[in-house]
Amino acid sequence: MKKILVLHGPNLNMLGEREVDVYGNIKLEEINRQLKTFGQDHGFIIEACQSNSEGDLVTMIQKAKGSFDALVINPAAFTHTSIAIRDALSAIDIPIVEVHLSNIYQREEFRQRSLTAPIAKGIISGFGVNSYLLGVRAAIEQISR
Ligand code: DQA
Repeated sequence: MKKILVLHGPNLNMLGEREVDVYGNIKLEEINRQLKTFGQDHGFIIEACQSNSEGDLVTMIQKAKGSFDALVINPAAFTHTSIAIRDALSAIDIPIVEVHLSNIYQREEFRQRSLTAPIAKGIISGFGVNSYLLGVRAAIEQISR
């Protein structure tokens, strides 16, 4: 079965407790549960990981090469700062979809720039948990092309 890696960046482990007005009440475990069910229903294995560390995320992205058929990533705050994560994304040759719970273009100016988006096939931003589900859907479509 084809495999999709979903990576969650820093502070996303606090979902449901953190800025609920922006990110909603949903917890990360619930997002991952919905993604795995969605994957199963479409014949894909979804693996999900979260890290608060830039280096760990770089290593996980590097390891995705050869082990996964696509990557869905919410780099969280590293979206706006991390050349290291951008370079890691450039180094793997599987389709990448960037997702954000909030609409980053509606928020503070510093969030309106994504260093990672140019490396992704596309980005989905602003639909809460559905950003992830749409992201996995886009990844499946990319794999099946
Ligand atoms: C986020 C948006 C980022 O600006 C922020 O740093 C996050 C979450 C989102 O999913 O909306 O942590 O990536």
